[in-house]
Amino acid sequence: MDLEALNGLLRPKSIAVVGASNKEGKIGYTVVRNLLISQYRGTIYPINPTESVIQGLQAYPSVLDVPGTIDAAVITVPAKLVPAVTEECGKKGVKGLIIIASGFSEVGRHDLEQQVVDIAQRYGVRVLGPNIVGILSNSDLCNASFAPFLPLAGKAALVSQSGALLIAMDASTYTRRVGFDKMVSIGNMSDVDFADTVEWLDQDEATACISLYIEGLRNGRAFMHAALKAAKPIVALKAGVSAHGAAAAASHTGSLAGSGKIYDAAFQQGGVVRAADLNNLFDRTLALSLQPPMQGENMLIITNGGGVGVLATDAAERYGIPLRFAPDDVQTELKKHMPEFGSAKNPVDLTGMAGRDWYYASVRYAFAHPWVDGLAVLYCETAITDPLEIADGIKQALDDAGVKDKPVVVSFVGGEQSDAARKWLVENGVPAYDAPDVAVNALAALREYARSRQLASEVFQRYADVDEATARAIIANARAHHNHSLTEIESKKIFRAYGMPVALTEMAQTEDEAVQLAEQIGYPIVMKIMSHDILHKSDAGGVKVNIKNAEGVREAFRTIIANAKAYKPDAIIEGVAVQEMAPWGTEVIVGSVDDPTFGPSVMFGLGGIFVEILKDVTFRVAPVSADQSFKMLEEIKAGAILAGARGEAPRDRRALAEVLSRYSQMITDLSDEIAESDANPVLVYAEGQGAKVVDARIILKK
Ligand code: ACO
Repeated sequence: MDLEALNGLLRPKSIAVVGASNKEGKIGYTVVRNLLISQYRGTIYPINPTESVIQGLQAYPSVLDVPGTIDAAVITVPAKLVPAVTEECGKKGVKGLIIIASGFSEVGRHDLEQQVVDIAQRYGVRVLGPNIVGILSNSDLCNASFAPFLPLAGKAALVSQSGALLIAMDASTYTRRVGFDKMVSIGNMSDVDFADTVEWLDQDEATACISLYIEGLRNGRAFMHAALKAAKPIVALKAGVSAHGAAAAASHTGSLAGSGKIYDAAFQQGGVVRAADLNNLFDRTLALSLQPPMQGENMLIITNGGGVGVLATDAAERYGIPLRFAPDDVQTELKKHMPEFGSAKNPVDLTGMAGRDWYYASVRYAFAHPWVDGLAVLYCETAITDPLEIADGIKQALDDAGVKDKPVVVSFVGGEQSDAARKWLVENGVPAYDAPDVAVNALAALREYARSRQLASEVFQRYADVDEATARAIIANARAHHNHSLTEIESKKIFRAYGMPVALTEMAQTEDEAVQLAEQIGYPIVMKIMSHDILHKSDAGGVKVNIKNAEGVREAFRTIIANAKAYKPDAIIEGVAVQEMAPWGTEVIVGSVDDPTFGPSVMFGLGGIFVEILKDVTFRVAPVSADQSFKMLEEIKAGAILAGARGEAPRDRRALAEVLSRYSQMITDLSDEIAESDANPVLVYAEGQGAKVVDARIILKK
């Protein structure tokens, strides 16, 4: 990261506003005014060709006329003037441009945008935007934007691809009481993108949580890399997942990848917490900016009302941290702080009579107890208790427990007094919400953060026993014959070169050859037509199974050739494949796509209706370790089938995980060549008996 240039851009000590104006209502007017109102402490240089004074400040006709140095230049002149202004800024030694002007790639003017970036790069100037609102920073008292005011002060930082949304979120920080130190609008991301801003914010002292609104990443791998390196929590709302990548996808895997599942996978692999919608982004940002991650699975709920307790319990299950009963010692102690008819299990119901003292005692004890990994404290407003007093009791108990490495969330349901209590709690560092499920969702974010960090720390170890040279030679040979779609035999040889167990397959040109190969492989066997012109072999009558002897081989050979010729008379037939007939096993599918954002990515699912109808598949950006691959097997809905559901013997999941991991290495190593591929089916046998790739397909890049 070019720290100095990004510091100049995002924490400028001096700002030029190019296109500064005295005319109220213009963006060039508003930016200067916002800098003055926010009490920006650096130097402001208004730039205007005709005015000598702008809003009381001395103005200059060009940045080149400015006597001092300029860290950042906010550009508020029309798009067509931006290249010339960029040239001047480069000559002046400006570190970064904040290009508010629209009219670039977002309206098809990629050329103009590229021209600006080229000029900037020539001078080593970083570019934020174009087509943005600007930047806002509480700690620098800097509103270099046309958003109305600085956000409510806090510890989060927002990076938004949408300018309008940033403005809307800025205003709602006050009503939602989620504090931000910085807001950065990145618009068209012509240069500075999410990866840069994540990396920079990670070292920014005023930022505790990085909150992202993403429509599309420019370079998915760079983002994952920056996210993985970040020591601070990142929460992302990804919009527009529906059509991604689906349009051009010819294969099964490709069409399934279009549903945003690769983004899901990449976020998980990068340790990024996901937000479901805008409200959720605020709620999760609040918790992640105020509380530490939840390292274990044990969440304790303390409440004064059964109803909110049940709602919280439901939410806990929904968001992946199902409740367990508290251990006996916890129950025994908590029983002392509630009436006879209370419950100390989990949720701990202090009953409607609970006042400050009961809340204080139970929260203090529970928070310090080693069994408890995270705490949700719920309160329903009653006529016999004062919400502010309860809030004070909770906060005091948390402080007195002396615990700093576990999270707590709070929900107060009630009227104005509860609202005031929530406000007070948030101001005192405790994330407080107006509904129990929202509080539990926020705690789940802290759990997801810890868990995805653990997962992300598992690194992929390359398999050393692979034969990349053989794989490349097969590809080169196919390319020499202008074949983009490899035959099953070629594909399987490449799979085998990567150490995957493959059902033996050889090519026969004649009946005699077929018999000879069948005897070598051993009966029963399968025979299939081999032709680049026939993709769907079964439809062409080009597959015969369970052939048991030489006579059967001869007959199958003749029938397959005749069927293929009838199906497609002009098809060029390379021969007939003779293949080991693998014994029955559980059918699974492994596939890959070259995702436009994240590159080679691997898909896994069970075969048949599971993939065709239920679309029960999961993705990872390749490569994936065998341990990560094992988690893929567990996370599909039908994962229980492989684990041994309904009395069936468990399948050999370790062997299958290794196939997935080796496959992911294959598509990564050969990513310059492979467009998509699959192994369909892979048969998985009982534990200890392995798995076998029965059919394989590789399509090369054009
Ligand atoms: N250097 C300095 N100032 C110059 C130069 C120059 N080379 N050339 C012209 N100027 C001055 C102009 O004289 C004018 O000053 P004046 O008000 O004293 O006359 C000022 O710069 C602005 O130029 P205008 O031609 O008046 O441009 P205008 O202010 O109408 O529009 C703007 C410029 C705001 C950049 C417009 O082109 C634009 O892109 N608007 C969209 C901005 C936007 O929405 N961004 C995306 C945010 S995301 C979202 O959707 C919320």
